[in-house]
Order: sequence, then C-alpha cells, then structure tokens
Amino acid sequence: MQPILWVTGAGSGMGRAAAISAAANGWRVVLSGRREAALDETARTIGSTGGTAMVAPLDVRNADDIARVHASITDDWGPVGGLVLSAGLNNPHRAWRDQSMPDFADIINTNLLAVAAVIDSALPDLRQTAGTVVVISSFAGWRFSPNAGVAYSASKTALSALCESLNAQEADHGVRACNLCPGDVDSDFLALRPNVPDSTARAVMLTPGDIGRAVQFVLDSPAHVRINELVITPVAQH
Ligand SMILES: NC(=O)c1ccc[n+]([C@@H]2O[C@H](COP(=O)([O-])OP(=O)(O)OC[C@H]3O[C@@H](n4cnc5c(N)ncnc54)[C@H](OP(=O)(O)O)[C@@H]3O)[C@@H](O)[C@H]2O)c1
Repeated sequence: MQPILWVTGAGSGMGRAAAISAAANGWRVVLSGRREAALDETARTIGSTGGTAMVAPLDVRNADDIARVHASITDDWGPVGGLVLSAGLNNPHRAWRDQSMPDFADIINTNLLAVAAVIDSALPDLRQTAGTVVVISSFAGWRFSPNAGVAYSASKTALSALCESLNAQEADHGVRACNLCPGDVDSDFLALRPNVPDSTARAVMLTPGDIGRAVQFVLDSPAHVRINELVITPVAQH
C-alpha cells in the first residue's frame, strides 16, 4: 500500500510542488490549505499523471479543522506516513515601528503553533509508520535576516527547536524531522513583502520545483537516514 503524505499549503508554491513530486514518486497525497479551488487544481495535476490525491481544505489555525481532516485521512486511507508543512504567513508591516500585535499573533499561529498542532495530531500515526516530517521554515529561521520581519523571524527560528525536539524524543519510533530553510523562492508569498520583487529579481530566485525536489530527497532517504536540516538558496542570493 502506498504511504500517505499530508501536505499543508498544497494549493500553491512549495507545498504544491512537493505534493506533485511526492505523488509521482509513490505517495498518496492529502492536500490541505484554505482555498479549495487551488487544492482542486493541484489534485487535477496529480490525477492527470496517474497519482492519487485527497482534497482536504482546512485553516491550519483552527484545531477543529485539523482534527476533522486528520480523522478523515485515517478513516478513508489509514495512518499518515509523512508531513510536509508548508502553510505560512508574513505581512508587509513587519518592523517594530509598523507591526500590529494581531498580525504578529496571526503569523506566530500560522507558522509555529499550527505546525506543532498538525504534528501533534499525526504523531500517533507517525510513530506507527516511522514517519518523516518536513517543515518548510526559511533562510530567515536559520540566519537572522533583517528584512524578514520580527514575527516571521521569531516563528521560523523556533521551528529549528521544534524539529530537533522531535528528533531527540521520537527517534526511538523511527520518526525523523527535517527543518528545511529555503532562501528566496519565486512564489505568491513574495506579494507579502513591503517591496514586491519584479520579474528580473524573480528570475534568479529558486522555483517551487527546486524545493519540491529537495523535499523528495528527504522523503526518499532510507529509513535510517535523517536529514536534520537543509538550507537551500539561489546562487544569486547575498
Ligand atoms: N517564497 C519565499 O521566498 C519563501 C522563502 C522561505 C520560506 N518560505 C516559506 O515557504 C512556505 C510556503 O510558501 P510559498 O513560498 O510556497 O508561498 P505560497 O504559495 O504563498 O504558499 C503558502 C501557502 O500557505 C497556505 N496557507 C497560508 N495560511 C494558511 C492557513 N491559515 N491555513 C491553511 N493554509 C494556509 C496558503 O494557502 P491558502 O491561502 O489557500 O490557505 C498557501 O498555499 C511558507 O511557510 C513560507 O514562509 C517562503
């Protein structure tokens, strides 16, 4: 039976690319995010090449949504064998001088608390399947990046500890986690920057597919191999 991969942020960007790659490489893929139409489009792409996908809309900030989707995965397909956690948020108002605390909380809820909540819901499955967790963090979570934003930097930096705590505490069950830290990726996410990059700047960035390929490498690694952290940047990034 094909293993089950649950992907958040699967309607666009890196989550979409990772889901498409995994489906082409033997995984049944659960596609989660808020925009059902975007998830449907990812599912159609997967289906057109013979892959298997389940569309499971949710808001990662909502505990009931996570529980509902997790229950439908296990009821319909079985235990989760892997997670790709790509749902993320930033805000153009990202400095101390112009950020708002509600926006700050929203970023922390999406980038940190929701990642922990999805892992928490799937952990019994991951123990059963010796599962793999890939957390899409950021270069800004690996090395301080002054323009990334206060809340964004804080949330992404914390993901390193979250992954390492999983590795330290759950390795006996075969669970492994990778903190994947991409640099600039040409995706919809760039629209959340105070200065949105133009096409010339985007042309030298990573593509979502570059990250999909890296996620596939982590998922495909033999069960005794753990890729604790991956930092991937475009050559042009300073
Ligand atoms: N692009 C970059 O340069 C860059 C660099 C480093 C790290 N990252 C990180 O990479 C991850 C993926 O971003 P991307 O570049 O691929 O951009 P993207 O296409 O905008 O992907 C972000 C995804 O997160 C989902 N999402 C946001 N809030 C959500 C919520 N509350 N519930 C469920 N899903 C939610 C969005 O789907 P819905 O709107 O449909 O919910 C969207 O599919 C993010 O975590 C981001 O922080 C991006």
